[in-house]
Amino acid sequence: MSKKLRSQDWFGKKDKDGIIYRSWMKNQGMPTDMFDGRPVIGICNTFSELTPCNAHFREIAESVKRGVLEAGGFPVEFPIMSLGETLLKPTAMLFRNLASMDAEESIRGNPIDGVVLLTGCDKTTPSTVMGAASVGLPTIVVPGGPMLNGKYKGQDIGSGTHVWKFDEDMKTGKMTQEDCEFAESCMSRSIGHCMTMGTASTMACMVEALGLTLSGAAAIPAADSRKKVMAQLSGRRIVYMVKENLTIDKILTREAFENAIKVNAAVGGSSNFIIHLTAIAGRIGVDLKLEDFDTIGSKIPLLLNLMPSGKYLMEDFYYAGGLPVILNELKNHLHKNVVTVTGKNHHENITGNTSCYNEDVIATYEKPFQTEAGCVVVKGNLALNGAVIKPSAATPSLLKHKGRAVVFESIEDYHKRIDDPNLDIDETCVMVLKYVGPVGYPGMAEVGNMALPKKILEKGIKDMVRISDGRMSGTAYGTAVLHVSPESAIGGNLALVQNGDMIELDVVQRKLHLDVSDEELEKRRAAWEKPEPVTHRGYVHLYINHVMGADKGADLDFLQGSSGNTVTRDSH
Ligand code: FES
Repeated sequence: MSKKLRSQDWFGKKDKDGIIYRSWMKNQGMPTDMFDGRPVIGICNTFSELTPCNAHFREIAESVKRGVLEAGGFPVEFPIMSLGETLLKPTAMLFRNLASMDAEESIRGNPIDGVVLLTGCDKTTPSTVMGAASVGLPTIVVPGGPMLNGKYKGQDIGSGTHVWKFDEDMKTGKMTQEDCEFAESCMSRSIGHCMTMGTASTMACMVEALGLTLSGAAAIPAADSRKKVMAQLSGRRIVYMVKENLTIDKILTREAFENAIKVNAAVGGSSNFIIHLTAIAGRIGVDLKLEDFDTIGSKIPLLLNLMPSGKYLMEDFYYAGGLPVILNELKNHLHKNVVTVTGKNHHENITGNTSCYNEDVIATYEKPFQTEAGCVVVKGNLALNGAVIKPSAATPSLLKHKGRAVVFESIEDYHKRIDDPNLDIDETCVMVLKYVGPVGYPGMAEVGNMALPKKILEKGIKDMVRISDGRMSGTAYGTAVLHVSPESAIGGNLALVQNGDMIELDVVQRKLHLDVSDEELEKRRAAWEKPEPVTHRGYVHLYINHVMGADKGADLDFLQGSSGNTVTRDSH
């Protein structure tokens, strides 16, 4: 290692500043030789008891530290804002960009030569990767792992996916409150994040596909001892990445993003993948367009039989061989000129580790579970910049549908009227929800898969076409057209839809059309009043004024790109 490391701009100083930088660290019991120029590895910990999916991360951090020390590095663990999907109101997505700023400035402002990101619950992955990408140091991700399979009365139940089912069963009287509370315990019975192919599992697969983790990391359950082994090995590896100057920008190339899009389609990943990958691309300077997700991913077959698109859970995925098996099945379709954290490409990483142990969980490319699985981008006068739909989670017969709009002007309006027996709606209608986009909610909440009216559920109907500028939980399912852009709160045509308008969805034709003339739309636009922002202060004010559209990843406009890792001034 010839190059002086950036941490020496703190610890290597021979003056007053050097005393300050070293001396206070020594109150933690650090011997003097820890400051001798060895790689300082930041362990960015998203632990919080309010983020249950990440509540086991102190132990994971200890395993990483062990690996860093073994390889001759100096580990330093630091916390950043932790975003838990289940508790944080109004939605964790509102704070993804804030957490990314926290990660970015914490990494840049401290004597860190390489960083390990401990990620789990949905937003903790994109936020930390976005922050790290805007600094540009060697970076490795350790996904915290999914929970063990939920087990309820002899059947496997999946996080999130079964919440929607239980909610429907409670509404229709098939489940009692007592049974439901018992099922809650059965669903979340170990440490870890959602064990369906929800957004957290999708994000774990995304970082592995991007090349940011050691091979096979994504699917290991949190409670499996091999998760700690993976963490320890990652701790060792980051030290060598610093020595090799294997920075994150060398890994996150256009080709790596294209690989991730294909892998996401093959695993039936969440539609949230689109928004997060686009935001990461914006930080690293890769020009990724909404259409790319369709053109690159939509023809890739579904190879993984996991809820919500299929039947199994992440634990089964791990036992069947995990993501290396998927990468192997896709080998003729993935770019090979990519480098991962190991310094090698995927094909070199997975050699000797590609056996599938359960073909009912992971299918072959030749005999997939579905022939075309990736998210599709639809456009038209209702979504001039595009909207997305995940066909693998939808009802095939609804992918081409024309129906009468039943409009909810806000999420409160929806909650108030959805179960009103007098609501003029039937299963052929199209449910439209406004003002739930990035600016409108604010934060683009996961409300796009709005539950069906009780009177329709009671008929045994499980799905209808639903359209909104919001998102859908990766654990959810249904024919939901999401991320409509431009959103209603900034005057997108979605704001102009009225009850009774006819709406046409044609996924094959990539079409989302509001059957209202341009003249009529202009008349409605003239009468439209922009809603008042929910606040004029604080982070939410900043967010509302700077958030970009869903089609651009909903990052803040001034966060695009990188500021590098240089800090020229000292603190005293
Ligand atoms: Fe944290 Fe699903 S709630 S991963």
